[in-house]
Amino acid sequence: MLYNNVIFGPALGAVPRVPMPIHIKTPEEIEKMRVAGRLAAEVLEMIGPHVVPGISTGELDRICHRYIVQEQDAIPAPLNYNGFPKSICTSVNHVICHGIPSDSKILKNGDIINIDVTVIKDGYHGDTSKMFCVGETPDHAKRLIRVSQECLYKAIAIVKPGITLGDIGHVIQQHGEANHYSIVREYCGHGIGRIFHEEPQVLHFGKPGMGTRIQEGMTFTIEPMLNAGSRYTKLSKSDGWTVTTKDRRLSAQWEHTLAVTSDGCEVLTRRTEEDL
Ligand code: MF3
Ligand code: CO
Ligand code: CO
Repeated sequence: MLYNNVIFGPALGAVPRVPMPIHIKTPEEIEKMRVAGRLAAEVLEMIGPHVVPGISTGELDRICHRYIVQEQDAIPAPLNYNGFPKSICTSVNHVICHGIPSDSKILKNGDIINIDVTVIKDGYHGDTSKMFCVGETPDHAKRLIRVSQECLYKAIAIVKPGITLGDIGHVIQQHGEANHYSIVREYCGHGIGRIFHEEPQVLHFGKPGMGTRIQEGMTFTIEPMLNAGSRYTKLSKSDGWTVTTKDRRLSAQWEHTLAVTSDGCEVLTRRTEEDL
């Protein structure tokens, strides 16, 4: 989600954003989030074999839409969300996030693509994304994909009550920058539940011990975006959604939805290929 740190008031200039309370989920709510999370993960598992040279991102969208609505009896959250026109986000190569599926965007050998799926089941959201390689991709692209996934995993590994959001951001920034990549700052992870994007904002950069303290029962996403070149982004003027790297170099992103437990966290969108 777009990171908001200020509200531009006409009279005051920049005034600090007022933090809203963080919704702590009950065990009953977490059970519903578990169901939604599993469904979102299953969409990514289902779509994998379809991600091949020659398919359009529009077709990937139709396959996911059909699966979510007809097989899962769930709702694709992006569709009509703030006017977003499709059911998933497909972000290819230098697209960082929020790519709009299109019949004219045909995947070619060597492309990398992030597919971001959010489903609503029984009123609760599950939000997750992964990177796919289309055919044979160059080693430099594979390395960017691997390091960005490691950033997510390293962040997940430290989540438990008592740490802070700054600790999460720090781990991601540290690992990404140690590998000579840059971290996108304009978009962040987010609280999630009945509402798609709720408090807190989960930044992918930060300082240890800073920011909001994590508590049991919080549910939020971590979704680091790493760029091969500079961290700067550009928002499409023509569609108002597609975010690209300013230098048009590659970007990669991975996302999971987590629930904080008494001594760690549960990855609600874990896929069977992952041992977390
Ligand atoms: N799934 C994205 C996220 O991780 C949000 C997509 S909103 C949309 O927060 F409108 F672009 F679909
Ligand atoms: Co998200
Ligand atoms: Co997402």
